[in-house]
Amino acid sequence: MTLLDFLPSLHKAAPPRIDPAIWPLTTTVDELGRLCVGDVPLTDISDEFRTPTYVLDESDFRRRLRSYRAALRDVEIRYAAKALLTIDVARWVAAEGAGIDVSSGGELAVAVAAGVAPARIVLHGNAKPVDELSDAAAVGVGRVVIDSAMEIAYLSCVARRRQRVLIRVTPGIDIGGHPAVTTGVDDQKFGFALTDGRALAAAERILHQPALELVGLHCHIGSQVTDATLYGEMIRRMLATMSDIRRRHGVVLHELNIGGGHGVPYVTGDPELDVAELADIIDDALDWACAAEHFPRPRIVVEPGRAISARAGVTLYRVLSVKSQPGGRTFVAVDGGMSDNPRVALYGAKYTVALANRHALGPMQRVTIAGRHCESGDEIARDVELPADVHPGDLLAVACTGAYQHSMASNYNMVSRPPIVAVNGGRVTELVRRETTADLLARDRGR
Ligand code: LLP
Repeated sequence: MTLLDFLPSLHKAAPPRIDPAIWPLTTTVDELGRLCVGDVPLTDISDEFRTPTYVLDESDFRRRLRSYRAALRDVEIRYAAKALLTIDVARWVAAEGAGIDVSSGGELAVAVAAGVAPARIVLHGNAKPVDELSDAAAVGVGRVVIDSAMEIAYLSCVARRRQRVLIRVTPGIDIGGHPAVTTGVDDQKFGFALTDGRALAAAERILHQPALELVGLHCHIGSQVTDATLYGEMIRRMLATMSDIRRRHGVVLHELNIGGGHGVPYVTGDPELDVAELADIIDDALDWACAAEHFPRPRIVVEPGRAISARAGVTLYRVLSVKSQPGGRTFVAVDGGMSDNPRVALYGAKYTVALANRHALGPMQRVTIAGRHCESGDEIARDVELPADVHPGDLLAVACTGAYQHSMASNYNMVSRPPIVAVNGGRVTELVRRETTADLLARDRGR
């Protein structure tokens, strides 16, 4: 006997529409109407770990890495740690055969603590502190991506053995995205431009440094790219530059790192980057450019972050109040907000939300999910459909929150950061514990 046998009316309850393009691959709805991920009802997680909590579907994360490796056969993968990194996550990455791209001493420390082979770590950053360069060199990271002329001098001084480097180049490609994440154009802080010969000048400088070995070029045109042809154009421009470097200096660079930025959907109907199409475009662009320049095929490296981790993540919030304002909007206020997800306030990001603890009975209404922080811009999602009877105590799940949420979380309003709880085949593992008030006070001398 199931609950449905006792309560036949539940047969009529509309299950929440779980769009498989947005929610973790293992998401299901059980007969009580509870959302489950990794065979675990999300209510079990909120009971044990309270809210807000980041839930991470381990098998979703791993399957996406695996399908990247299958689609991009001759391409090396360096997962972008900035999207989401914990020691366990770094171990999953290594176990799935990928390396890691880090952009700080902190991310490097996590990767090293996880036992990731240093040779498979790439260090990034437009302003790397000298002590971080020194640590990276001491650890023996596989590549340092040089981003400024000063860094060539710094790294030469601290390198203990010959350090392999790439040059970050801006190829003059505009992805037409949010200005905060458009990095392939000249007028921004990253890299050396192609346009006025700066990238070539950087190559020359590096080639004069005995402590550095220039092995290739790097570029990252921005985030949420869904048009794969942009990578083809980028490869053609970068290959032409590699060919210029060979012409001027007689050096053949054998590596081209084309960065990450692969777009994923956050709401139904959003486009996403097609990885199989990307594989074809990389191949075609290399065939064309290598033939045109008579250049040997370089090894290609990609650095996806969001495309691996975003859809594995779901954030759980408890509804604390529901308020209809005279302006007409209904605000469903929850116990988290811009401290655990700053992306709405920063980029106007959109999210998909579902009731996670019960069947959605009756009519739906359009609401704004408001956070708990002291700003009116503190929203988790706008214009989402929830049952009209949503009430305090309900549990909400926000999809596609595995990238750039925990890694960008803050303590605004002295709110502690949520835990990360991994689920897999009915197993629940707390990867990172919730911050406590004691943690928050620990750095204050007056305590
Ligand atoms: N490689 C480099 C050099 C990068 O700068 C980035 C991201 C990536 C790879 C990975 O990009 P992904 O595949 O994850 O798009 N906070 C913003 C995203 C900033 C991304 C910065 N760089 C957001 O929440 O949308």
